[in-house]
Amino acid sequence: MTSHVRITPSVLNADRENLASEIEKIASVSDLIHLDIMDNIFVPNLTWDFAEAARIIAQCPIGIDAHLMVDKADQIAIDYAIAGAQSVTVHVEAVENISQTLKAIRSHGAQVGLAVKPGTPIESYLEHSDLVDMFLIMTVEPGFGGQKFMSEMMDKVRTVRKFVGDQPIWIQVDGGISLETIEIAREAGADTFVAGSAVFNSPDPAEMVQKLRHRADAL
Ligand code: DX5
Ligand code: ZN
Repeated sequence: MTSHVRITPSVLNADRENLASEIEKIASVSDLIHLDIMDNIFVPNLTWDFAEAARIIAQCPIGIDAHLMVDKADQIAIDYAIAGAQSVTVHVEAVENISQTLKAIRSHGAQVGLAVKPGTPIESYLEHSDLVDMFLIMTVEPGFGGQKFMSEMMDKVRTVRKFVGDQPIWIQVDGGISLETIEIAREAGADTFVAGSAVFNSPDPAEMVQKLRHRADAL
């Protein structure tokens, strides 16, 4: 595997009252900070609203990877790009006009991510690859941190890797990534890894980010 490894820690299960200091712990060793936006409609959980997220984006010392788990995401995705998120990921299940929304995110200067839930096949969405900088294969049902990694999603990761080849499109996995499961996902072809509880339940979050990176890089 030659594609470059990226670690994008999720702050979903960090201490949200002290988010700036939580981000500070890992910023220098992370590629992006993964921010999980949930609306209690698309998923049964609520995190930051747009105003709060825009403040986090503005104050974060490194780029934000905004993962929008919100219903009817077409317009809000553009708002996140305008707010300065480095990357904006929408779910195929939550946008009405996929290609129009992907184009609009890019035209507002953000990288474009396209995500599928575990029950959604990826094949028919690969046709959007010209408009996409990253495919996100969910390895848990979106909504909560700390769930078990679904290794049966690796077929989907292999399908995307086969399609993408060496094109500069990132393949991200999100959910249940740990020192053990990162190897499985890397071997299947992922190169961009979200890790939430593995990082923030660790006594030394920065060290855990580095360990995850080394584990994936070794393959
Ligand atoms: C789940 C979120 C994930 C979550 C990952 O819906 O999209 O980003 O924070 O957390 P862990 O690594 O604990 O599964
Ligand atoms: Zn996420």
